Amino acid sequence: MVFQHECQGGGIAYTDESFFKVRLFDLVSALARSLDMVSQTLAGHHTNVGFLTSSIAGCYGLSDAEYRNIVLAAMLHDIGAVSLYPAVDSLLFEDDTIKHSIAGSVIISSSKKLQDIPKLVEHHHTPWEELRELDSYYQLSNIINLADFIDVNTRRDRPVQDQIPDLISLCKKHKGTMFNPDYIEALREAESKPHFYPNLRAAHAQTTLNISSQFDEDVLDADGVLDFTGLFATVIDFRSRFTATHSQGVAVTSCVLGRWLGFNEIQQVLFQIAGRLHDIGKLAVPAALLEKNGRLTSEEFAIIQRHATYTEHILSDIPGLEIIRDWACQHHERLDGTGYPHGLSGDDISLGSRILQVADVFTAITEDRPYRKGMDFAQATKVLRQLGDSQKLDPVVVEVLIERYDEINELRCKGQMQALEHFSNYSEVLYSKYGIVVKDVS
Ligand SMILES: [Fe+2]
Ligand SMILES: [Fe+2]
Ligand SMILES: [Fe+2]
Repeated sequence: MVFQHECQGGGIAYTDESFFKVRLFDLVSALARSLDMVSQTLAGHHTNVGFLTSSIAGCYGLSDAEYRNIVLAAMLHDIGAVSLYPAVDSLLFEDDTIKHSIAGSVIISSSKKLQDIPKLVEHHHTPWEELRELDSYYQLSNIINLADFIDVNTRRDRPVQDQIPDLISLCKKHKGTMFNPDYIEALREAESKPHFYPNLRAAHAQTTLNISSQFDEDVLDADGVLDFTGLFATVIDFRSRFTATHSQGVAVTSCVLGRWLGFNEIQQVLFQIAGRLHDIGKLAVPAALLEKNGRLTSEEFAIIQRHATYTEHILSDIPGLEIIRDWACQHHERLDGTGYPHGLSGDDISLGSRILQVADVFTAITEDRPYRKGMDFAQATKVLRQLGDSQKLDPVVVEVLIERYDEINELRCKGQMQALEHFSNYSEVLYSKYGIVVKDVS
């Protein structure tokens, strides 16, 4: 069975690679906001620290490359805490300064596009008196340390302009030991500018508006975006041992289904990206619920269902990703209108979204989880056919999967094994080099 068609979205036909361009900054910014959704404690932390870092760096006078790197590092600086402490229910992980900094630098080092960032993340809590002995590039990370200190110590229930001048005075007590005196001076200068507080209040929007033009050159093609989304998948999947490799399983399955349903090579890459991103909204779901072993109450189920809307919000902020956003955030919609979040039905659901839906169900029922074995061929095809016959899933997509079951299942298993290997390598590096123990997700 072979189909031919174009996929339309945002007025663009993605049949030609040259149409697909996404700014690295927009991806990093979306990942930062995803990290900030993990807990109330983190609310706005990465975006605030990104904004404060850009303000300090702007007044200090860095090269374009240094400026770009330090702002990107600031926006992701506590990424390691999310995998080490899935609940992240307090900023107390900041006391554990070395572990989460190293874990973050190891996670980020897997992204080819961020090769200059890990060193800066690794040292974001290293005191100035130690940093000054190191290479001058490492010293930049002290800007993040200063920005982080300000944000962690700013109370959310009081006006920020009443607090920052006192916090800067407090930093001065640590000048030369914890913080570079020049960076404190740059912060003081930034704070005196008329736009500082209005911009800090709306850190998310303003970070994007104020500094994004500096990142216009850094544009990724489909393969670049696919590489970067490995980071998203890592953050989603490393958080819960129940779904440790799920994103990669959906990515591989939807890519192969797309191939057999007539999508071209670049579109197949887009399916992999959508698969890696489809559950990004789960970062906003409490880890305890994702890990719950047993029946969910209706309230708990309603909370888990919200992840599809969060996925939509996060991906809506990335220009160029419109098709992928729709495919990804519609993975729980159903043809008969009983799905969520929008209750779409029939022709309102594109073939791409239908593929993601089948890939998600297929991966979920066939992958092994800590509390149960995955279904075998007979069980899985029975479930999928029932869902196709009852107009929940697209019966044509289901039949394509069943026709090529062995091939697709083998590739899915391989993809999920590779994701598990990636996690094992991460755990091993952290343990063998630094003695840091990460929870087991196998
Ligand atoms: Fe930190
Ligand atoms: Fe932090
Ligand atoms: Fe989902």
